[in-house]
Amino acid sequence: MAFQVKQRALLFILPLLLGGLGLASCGNTNDRASNAPSKQAVKPVETQQAEVKPSAVSQPKLATLPVNGEKVYIRCAACHMKTGEGVKGAFPPLKGELVQLLNSDLGKEYLVLVSIYGLAGDINVAGETYSGMMTAQGGMTPEKTAAVLNHIMQTFNGVSEEDPRLFTARFVTDTKTKYGRLSGRKVYALRDAAYESVLP
Ligand code: HEC
Repeated sequence: MAFQVKQRALLFILPLLLGGLGLASCGNTNDRASNAPSKQAVKPVETQQAEVKPSAVSQPKLATLPVNGEKVYIRCAACHMKTGEGVKGAFPPLKGELVQLLNSDLGKEYLVLVSIYGLAGDINVAGETYSGMMTAQGGMTPEKTAAVLNHIMQTFNGVSEEDPRLFTARFVTDTKTKYGRLSGRKVYALRDAAYESVLP
């Protein structure tokens, strides 16, 4: 009898001690002795997790993840093809002449504006005339826009990933602020000047 009482006391105290050490889940079979303290020990952990997850775990992870330009390009590939070669007479290539546009701010701004707001008007690329139009692209955040343009420049046009002319989200934001929302027609109006600005 005396032994039993001692044992019960021990069973009651042990989980409390273990609970304090964060080891409450040690599977004691005595209901009365182990459940009450272990519940208390677990609860704060749950509330802590609920508080920590959205702010300290998820958000910084999303913010620091670089946007994958290749993934963003999938939507462009529907017309410009996976290789950036386009389709003669329908969708212009995104390789070749285009790379020169990196040599001036206006050239880069034009690329940003087309990627977001589209383009409407006849253009001539590598001896082919294109008289279709590109619709505005929804959901193009500054990060996505910079990433997709860098993918086009690096993968199709041999630009090094260290090239200082590559796009940043900041450049895209500044361009959007500078020009405001444009129609494809207005973007087209900038095209000649963009190419002229990079002519040697
Ligand atoms: C629905 C088809 C379609 C999609 C999707 C599309 N484009 Fe286009 N794009 C075109 C067409 C057509 C033109 C030529 C428009 C014209 O002739 O005015 C064009 C033109 C361009 C040009 C201008 C080329 C030059 O020489 O001036 C760029 C840059 C461009 N697209 C980039 C992109 C990017 C980046 C994406 C993805 C975010 C994209 N396009 C998605 C059809 C598309």
